[in-house]
Amino acid sequence: SNAVSVAPILTKLQKDCATPLPVLRHVADAMAADMRGGLAVDGGSDLKMILSYVNSLPSGNEKGLFYALDLGGTNFRVLRVQLGGKDERVIDTEFEQVSIPQELMFGTSEELFDFIASGLAKFAQKEGGKFHLPRGRKREIGFTFSFPVKQTSIDSGILMKWTKGFAVSGTAGKDVVACLNEAMERQKLDMRVSALVNDTVGTLAGARYWDDDVMVAVILGTGTNACYVEQVDAIPKLQGPKSLSGRTIINTEWGAFSKGLPLTEFDRDMDAASINLGEQIFEKTISGMYLGEIARRVLLKLAEAGALFGEAVPEKLTTPFILRTPDLCAMQQDNSNDMKAVESILYDVAGVESNLSARKIVIEVCDTIVKRGGRLAGAGIVGILQKMEDDAKGIVFGKRTVVAMDGGLYEHYPQYRRYLQDAVTELLGLEISKNVVIEHSKDGSGIGAALLAAANSQYEHDF
Ligand code: BG6
Ligand code: GLC
Repeated sequence: SNAVSVAPILTKLQKDCATPLPVLRHVADAMAADMRGGLAVDGGSDLKMILSYVNSLPSGNEKGLFYALDLGGTNFRVLRVQLGGKDERVIDTEFEQVSIPQELMFGTSEELFDFIASGLAKFAQKEGGKFHLPRGRKREIGFTFSFPVKQTSIDSGILMKWTKGFAVSGTAGKDVVACLNEAMERQKLDMRVSALVNDTVGTLAGARYWDDDVMVAVILGTGTNACYVEQVDAIPKLQGPKSLSGRTIINTEWGAFSKGLPLTEFDRDMDAASINLGEQIFEKTISGMYLGEIARRVLLKLAEAGALFGEAVPEKLTTPFILRTPDLCAMQQDNSNDMKAVESILYDVAGVESNLSARKIVIEVCDTIVKRGGRLAGAGIVGILQKMEDDAKGIVFGKRTVVAMDGGLYEHYPQYRRYLQDAVTELLGLEISKNVVIEHSKDGSGIGAALLAAANSQYEHDF
């Protein structure tokens, strides 16, 4: 019967995915070590440790009308933010979002940036004479671009490579602000990018605006990444006359981390079939784009070797990425005895017919993958905190420290969130972990980018 051949596969999966405390500790330590390596010299470790050129964190005094663009998650977003300064803070925000058409992810750079610029142009038109800027003053934009960009200043940076399944031709190696400017010119749109930021950096700035204790920001969505507040003195690769002083934000690009991770044959096969072989291994293990696909590969093997869903292997289950992380999540919310929701999701999504015992196994598979992801994400966070604490005792563990979280995976997957928090608590111990507040900061990156545009405005005066 299928129980005989299914059990060993499942047991092996659970063993390969196990994240006991020593594994978590090893990951946290390796993360901290890689941070130091990447700060020492470019290419010094898996972590790029990118300088953000953000040299002041939001103060609350930012004032005026600013736009933000946000590209890199599931959706493309445009925002208009009216900042009122100290007392009024955010007077108003308006935004629109559209999901990014699949074909643009594989198209040309011009097509992608034309899409962005025309979305911005349409949105800007709706301002409808509501705001009057001083004569000659351009509307300024905070541009959140959630890919690894080598910043050359606060308002320019070169795309190093695409991640998260994007394979747009002709952008890598180019300044993405220049790409946007050219597209805006084609649209006859006269606006100016004043800040180019990663989504983690936008999230940190946005959260920090409300809470001075925010020191780290993490995205867990389609992809994953983290940034944090670093002392300029602790960045050896930043040589020469230091234009920055005090503190800055470092974008770790931790998705590229790879050391000490508990990986399975399914991860290796998925990586081998991916468009970025050998890259973004941490991201492929813990982020939303991949968890569903890992689970699908496990289920396919169980179907083939163990007849989990009957004698024939369901055809649809052989399609890469047919099972998505939100499907895993929806199945894991079914607490009923007969697991009817699991049954119908499996059927609708993957054409799979399942009896109750098969459904239970499916849930175990999902839980195994999600538990590993959440716990490893937690270990990564502790690695960052540990590095900061080692540099200056008491700076993070001796007081309230906030880690601002965003992204669909963190927002919508309660089990993932719980596993992440558990790992952080296990690693830090109960006492210290009371000081570390891991907090959802919803869509902070849009406002954050607008705040950074305001702080880096090319105009001297507020209006
Ligand atoms: C959003 C941020 O809230 O989270 C984006 O504003 C970021 O910049 C995103 O990329 C992650 O989204 P997703 O769709 O990948 O979960
Ligand atoms: C990918 C990108 C990174 C981004 C993250 C989360 O890892 O390379 O820049 O921050 O996804 O969106």
